[in-house]
Amino acid sequence: MVIKTTSSDAERKMLAEAGYADPAINYYLEKKYMGHIENADQVSEKIGSCGDIMKVYLKVDENEIIDDVRYEITGCAGAISAAMAAVELVKGKTVNDALKMNDGDVFKVLGNIPEKKHHCIQLAVKTMHQGIEELKSGKN
Ligand code: FES
Repeated sequence: MVIKTTSSDAERKMLAEAGYADPAINYYLEKKYMGHIENADQVSEKIGSCGDIMKVYLKVDENEIIDDVRYEITGCAGAISAAMAAVELVKGKTVNDALKMNDGDVFKVLGNIPEKKHHCIQLAVKTMHQGIEELKSGKN
């Protein structure tokens, strides 16, 4: 019997061997919240200490509830999976509640990522927080 291996199977295996748990791998492969939002209420950008770049797009309703979030990312698998998990943690929350999301919350949703990738979680969270703070201060 011949088992066909797709490139995403190969990527999945590589990431698992590197220490990424299944939820983190799924977030990375699905990239559900990658891209931009037309008519976003806020667009903010942050550059990580590693030189990677994240841009967050936020859409909020009249009650300051986060309707939609997208990220554009020039970065690693850790950064992409962390950003996708961060979106799920803030969607449907008020901007003030979303600011309470921290690195530990994202790590829990991801299940696990390699230790040397923990700063990628920080970048995702800091970018989200910066976007929300700039939205609140009207600096968009
Ligand atoms: Fe730069 Fe992951 S190595 S964000």
